[in-house]
Amino acid sequence: MKIIAINGSHRKNKNTAVLLQAVLDEAAAQGASTELLELADHNIKFCISCNKCLGRNQCTINDDDMNSMAEKLLTADGIVLGSPVYWGNVTAMMKNFMDRSRWMHMYKNMLAGKAGAAVTNAGLRNGGQDLVLQIMEHYLSGQGIQLVDARDQNAPLAFTGVSGSLQADFKDGKNIWRRSVEEDEGAMKACRQLGTNIVKTIKGKIIK
Ligand SMILES: Cc1cc2nc3c(=O)[nH]c(=O)nc-3n(C[C@H](O)[C@H](O)[C@H](O)COP(=O)(O)O)c2cc1C
Repeated sequence: MKIIAINGSHRKNKNTAVLLQAVLDEAAAQGASTELLELADHNIKFCISCNKCLGRNQCTINDDDMNSMAEKLLTADGIVLGSPVYWGNVTAMMKNFMDRSRWMHMYKNMLAGKAGAAVTNAGLRNGGQDLVLQIMEHYLSGQGIQLVDARDQNAPLAFTGVSGSLQADFKDGKNIWRRSVEEDEGAMKACRQLGTNIVKTIKGKIIK
């Protein structure tokens, strides 16, 4: 079982990577083989909107790193997307990645049946995380990917999505910041649960 995570942050190994790695570590502890892919390490050109992918499952652009990325996507059983909030939206790199994967979707839904999920984090507690999760989940659903949530079925509801923040509180007129999303206990717990749930979903063990 292979689970990959794609980090859309323009900064490698920072908060979004921490969340994705926590999902992968839990999945690995349950037997999955895992890989974290940083979009910042990949040269992915913009979609040129040639629309050739309407008639064939292939992209016109084939001289960049989308080829290796596509191979990882097509061979994975689970795909976790991560993006920090940039202006209430996914990052430009994440959006570019989505655009360039259109050929895996238009002619034939080539990623259909895989398991998938999204994680995000932002500076502020209410910094736009919900919309960013919706954007990534909309993308995953469009690809025919089965969405997995971070609910612990045997515990009281605590999280509706994996979203962290650096703002811990606002007290006496001042922001109280976390040094890293790693200090956001709820977000980290949700990541670990998500790792478990993805593995269970792939094994067909989640009972709806
Ligand atoms: C261009 C840009 C736009 C941002 N927009 C928002 C925003 O709309 N809301 C918010 O709460 N934080 C915003 N942030 C803060 C990031 O979401 C936050 O620093 C996040 O932890 C970065 O993730 P990373 O550490 O994985 O790079 C923005 C940061 C950048 C660079």
